[in-house]
This record gives sequence, C-alpha cells and structure tokens, in this order.
Amino acid sequence: MAIENGHSNGHANGHANGNGAATPIDESIAVKANAVDKVPQLLEEIAKQGKYLTQDGAQNRRQLLESVRSLSYALETPREAMIRYCWSQPTIFAAIELGVNLGLFKVLSKDDKPKTAVELAEATGAEPVFLSRILKHLGAMGAIYEVGPDTYQPTNFAKTLTIQKYGDAFPCMTDCINSGVLAFPQWVKKNGYQAPTDGKNTAMQLGFHTDLHFFEFLATNPEFPVRFMNHMSAYHQGRPSWMDPGFYPVQERLAAGLDTSAPLLVDVGGSTGHDLQEFRRKHPEVQGKFVLQDLPEVIAKAKVLVSPDIEAMEHDFFKEQPIKGARAYYMHSILHDWPDNKCKEILTNLAQAMKPGYSKVLINENVIPDMDADWQTTSLDLIMMTVFASQERTERQWHALVESAGLKIVNIFTAEKGVESLIECELA
Ligand SMILES: C[S@@+](CC[C@H](N)C(=O)[O-])C[C@H]1O[C@@H](n2cnc3c(N)ncnc32)[C@H](O)[C@@H]1O
Repeated sequence: MAIENGHSNGHANGHANGNGAATPIDESIAVKANAVDKVPQLLEEIAKQGKYLTQDGAQNRRQLLESVRSLSYALETPREAMIRYCWSQPTIFAAIELGVNLGLFKVLSKDDKPKTAVELAEATGAEPVFLSRILKHLGAMGAIYEVGPDTYQPTNFAKTLTIQKYGDAFPCMTDCINSGVLAFPQWVKKNGYQAPTDGKNTAMQLGFHTDLHFFEFLATNPEFPVRFMNHMSAYHQGRPSWMDPGFYPVQERLAAGLDTSAPLLVDVGGSTGHDLQEFRRKHPEVQGKFVLQDLPEVIAKAKVLVSPDIEAMEHDFFKEQPIKGARAYYMHSILHDWPDNKCKEILTNLAQAMKPGYSKVLINENVIPDMDADWQTTSLDLIMMTVFASQERTERQWHALVESAGLKIVNIFTAEKGVESLIECELA
C-alpha cells in the first residue's frame, strides 16, 4: 500500500541523526509495550505507595495515581496509544456530553439498582438501539459500570456529572473551546509555528468562524457564560486554596495593620464572588470592606448571589482602578487569560491605585516548574495559548511580567504541585 511513508522530507520511517541522515525506525516497536523494562520498578513503587495510601492523605493518592499512569503508559503499545488519542478521547467526550444533555446520568444515578439499556432509553426518550451503543462505550471507557449484558450502574464519576457545575464542563468545552484547540495545528501552520500574541487572532476565531475575542463570543449566548462559570468553579474544587490554614499567612500578611478607611480585598475580575464568599467563610475573624469587580453582565448576576457585606461593582480592568489604597487587589485566573502586553495594562492600572508600603497585589495563578509540570497545568497552558493567545507562566515569566508594570514579587506561596500559587506583589 502506498499510503504509508508520506513524509514530505522523503524519509520513510526515520528521523534525522547527528549527520542529517535518517536512522530507520524499526516498525515492530509500534506493537510492543512502550517501556516494558520500566514495569518491575513501577510495580514496586506502586506496591509501596499503595501501602502508605491507607496511612496518608490526598498527596499520597496523587503520587500513586501518577505511578499507575506511568505503568499504563509503559505497558501500552504505541499503536494502542495512537488509537486511544485518536479514537477513544474524542468519542468518550461526545458520549459523555450527549449523556449530560439527555439527562442519562441523572436517570442512571436515581438509585443504585442496575438498569438496562431499554429502561434507560424509556426514561430518557432516546432510541433504544442508539442508546445501547452509547452505553457500551461509556462502560468500555469506565465512565459507568457494565454489570451485565446491556445493564449498567453509575460510577461516582457518573453520579458527579448530575451536579450541574460538573456536568456543564462538557457542553462548555464544546460551546467555546474545543473547536479552537482542534483548529490550532492548522492555525499555527499558517502562522509560522509560533504562539499567538493577539486574543483576536488565535485558533479560537478559526475554529469557531468568528472575529470575536473569547469573552465577546461567550456573551453571544446567555447559556455560555453560565456554563463557563460553572466549569471554572468545578475546576477549583478539591484543591488547596490560599485561604486554607498553612498556605498563606492571612492574619500576618493581610489583616495586621489594616487601614479600615479603604477596602481589605478587591477581587478584580472576581466573577460572581465565590472567592470573596469563601474568604468571608474561612476568615470570619478578619473584618474589613470587600469589593467584587467584573463586567456589567457578570455583576448583574453577582448582585443577587453575594452577601450584602460584599460590594459588587461594574469595572473594566483595562480602565483606571476606582478603588484607591486597598490592602490587596486580588486576581484569580485573570492574567492567564491575557497576553503580556494586556496583563501589563491590568497590572499598571492596579499599581497606580496602590498605596506605597501598604497595598499588595495578590495573584492566584499557576507557576509552572522547570521540570515535572503537572498535566492539568500543561493542558490549561495549551488551552490558554490556542483560545486566548495567553499562557500559564513560569516563575521567571511572572517576575518579568510583574516588573514590567512597576511592581515586584515579594513572595510566592505554593501548597502542592499542580495547584495555583499565591504570588504576593508590592510596588517596586
Ligand atoms: C477565568 S474567569 C476568572 C473568574 C474568577 N476570578 C475565578 O477565579 O473564578 C475571568 C473573569 O474575568 C472577567 N473579565 C473579563 N474581561 C474583563 C474586563 N475587561 N474587566 C473586568 N473583568 C473582566 C470575566 O467576566 C470572568 O469573570
């Protein structure tokens, strides 16, 4: 068959060696385990970590999961990996999204009794033969349990999908992200293999056939921002927050020496106020004024959600900051939405409102380590690149960005790998 070996450089099954000549790749590796030699050591680590799991908490579970994942990659053949990336990932995504839309997981999770495909079809109104195919794939991929022929029970994952903020992740990604990510190879090929720098010229516009920036596109359908906010909120669950004990010394760095004539915390781009509410809940002992800022359509929603002790204010962070001399201007997952030149504008507006020697900027964002970055963070980095022309940043990049706006980083507080740090900044 002539369809193999279609490389444009003319080298079949090979890669360039130091002399520019191609070293042939032995095709038999495609159907053998990726790294069978690593398996014994990984199994030893897994056995050891498995023993500690009963004694330790969440950190240990994550290490064990990473080892199990490495074991799975070592045992998988390259051909199987190709099929997993190309077939199973897009199809399981589609099956879950349609299941969410159909209310399938709600019906399945109504109780723990096994349910047949026919019963599930009756309850959801789907065509039975169609639904049985979807259920088979969900079962094969571990999203639900197959407990008998055409008979299923929910996993905890399936049950979680019935909670709106979790289930919304799937239509949210389809609404405004996935087509951008998938268009990226085409966009970057046309644009000389470099990262986009303009949020109005990224793969997002190509993938969604629009001229709009992501946030303008989000506003074109009232359901999009709701699902997006739910997805953001679900993403933050189950991860240490800087407001938790042992992460950021709130009392010492924020509450001590408070000048009550100005707000304690201004949450810039704070969405509907979940972070300020969390702060009020976790630190009732810290008294002060709290201000929530976001775009008008978001503030309209926030006004009915936040408690009356939080002032919800319309504010565009590309304009002059109206609250002067606050103890802290806080931004959570804001700067990763924007390229450096736009972040500089946002930070400069804050710097101009800050009281020297008193005000801080608190940036709650990922700091990518030089090695061993977490896959959740690198996934997000590519979403940021393809959809927003922005990025997750390394420590060096954070210093350069903050300094470009006349500020300096005084401390970076980090709880654990893959979790957003709190970057504390002051006027330079
Ligand atoms: C990724 S969300 C982060 C929300 C919140 N800080 C959190 O961590 O959940 C970005 C937020 O920035 C807001 N935003 C976008 N452009 C803005 C602007 N020009 N001025 C103020 N807020 C803006 C959006 O409405 C959204 O709430």
